Formats: sequence, C-alpha cells, structure tokens
Amino acid sequence: MTAVLETKKLSKTYHSKKGDLSYQALDNVTLSVEKGEFTGVMGPSGSGKTTLLNLLATIDQPTGGELTINGTNPKQLKDSKLALFRRRELGFVFQDFNLLETLNIRENILLQLALDKTNLKEMERRLKEIADILEISHILEHRPYEVSGGQKQRAACARAVIHQPALVLADEPTGNLDSKSAKQVMDTLAKLNQTKETTILMVTHDPTAASFCNRMSS
Ligand SMILES: Nc1ncnc2c1ncn2[C@@H]1O[C@H](COP(=O)(O)OP(=O)(O)OP(=O)(O)O)[C@@H](O)[C@H]1O
Ligand SMILES: [Mg+2]
Repeated sequence: MTAVLETKKLSKTYHSKKGDLSYQALDNVTLSVEKGEFTGVMGPSGSGKTTLLNLLATIDQPTGGELTINGTNPKQLKDSKLALFRRRELGFVFQDFNLLETLNIRENILLQLALDKTNLKEMERRLKEIADILEISHILEHRPYEVSGGQKQRAACARAVIHQPALVLADEPTGNLDSKSAKQVMDTLAKLNQTKETTILMVTHDPTAASFCNRMSS
C-alpha cells in the first residue's frame, strides 16, 4: 500500500505577536494514512485537532517535523504551485459547511472543476454520480439557505470529492448537526470511502462520529 499522507514528528508552537508568549499546540505527531483508509483522530477541545488539519491543509506551516501528501512535501512548493496542489490534491469538509451563499448547490459542488476547465459533460457525469450517492440530486438548484444543515454538509462532502483528490480532510463535520443528520453525513463519508475508495482523515471530539472510521488514533 502507498501512504497518501505521512507526518514525522510534526509540531506546532504558536508565538504571540510580541514574541513573549508561546504555546505548543502539537508535539511530535507521527502518523501515516494509506490509500483508501478512513482514519479518525480523536481528541478533546483544545488538543490541537484544527491545528493539525491546518498543517495538513497546507494553510499553516509546522514549526517542526515533516509532512508529505502523495509524496510531495508542500514546503517545497512556491505559493502559486501550492494553491494548485491544494485545489487538486485535497478536499475539505468543515464544521460550518463553508458553502458560498451566492451560488446554488450545483455551482458550489462544480466550482473547482469549472476552475480547472473540466469538460462540461464530464462535470455533469461526476455530479450525477456523486449526487445520487449523497442523496442530494433533488436540491441541486437550491441555494444553501434553502436546504437543511445535513443537506448542506452532504453537498460539502460532494464538493470535497468531485475532483477526486488524494485526501479529504474533515474537521468536526458533524459538529453543527443534530444526531440524525450527523449519522447521515457519517454514513455518506463511509459510503464514499467504500464505493469510491476516497481516502479520508477526520478529526473530531465525538466518539459516535469516530465510530464510523476504520482506524482511530488519539
Ligand atoms: N493562531 C493561534 N495562536 C495561538 N494559539 C492558538 C492558535 N490557534 C490555536 N491556538 C491554541 O492551540 C491549542 C489547540 O487549538 P486547536 O484549535 O487546534 O484545538 P482543537 O482540538 O481543534 O479544539 P476544538 O475541539 O475546540 O476545535 C488551543 O489551546 C488554542 O488556544
Ligand atoms: Mg477545532
């Protein structure tokens, strides 16, 4: 098996602007995620889960250790290449959905493919397949404010996988949902993992959400 994600002794210390205060949010995190795995990282509030995901998402840099995604160390990429790398290789699911309110669900899901000038027929083919799996085909023309939280999160899951990224990163994807919608979203992620072999790393403090993963670390 090939590792999609590898971290070696990844650490992050935050420094205050004045430089007089520092706080170590992550201390020597070593983990490896293989292709096709659905991995959960569990920890209480303040344990550094979002800090870890920000490093993996390449939107923040570690203060120690190494990180490779699909064999690439993002540190070695220049800004423009890094943005492209992030867009192509990664997909994101956030606690608060992060859908664009001015676009409908279809446009939110297709945005990245449109940015990459994907052929229209291919976009429609992928959208149909994923919308069917996620059971959101009937709300594609709705704006985010016209659908439920669970539907928004399933749309966000569709957006996270439509470009077939190497790795999907999810930060408390069920944090803003009631237990029924939370279960649907977790079923969805598990289904994407099983049918499309999507590699997923999820961080959460919720043991129920974590129980859907096929591997856990804390
Ligand atoms: N930009 C920052 N500057 C300074 N300290 C920070 C910064 N971001 C996070 N921290 C601190 O690092 C620690 C870990 O924060 P982080 O957001 O990663 O936790 P978390 O596990 O995601 O928590 P939650 O479950 O509440 O989302 C916390 O003590 C937090 O106060
Ligand atoms: Mg967090």
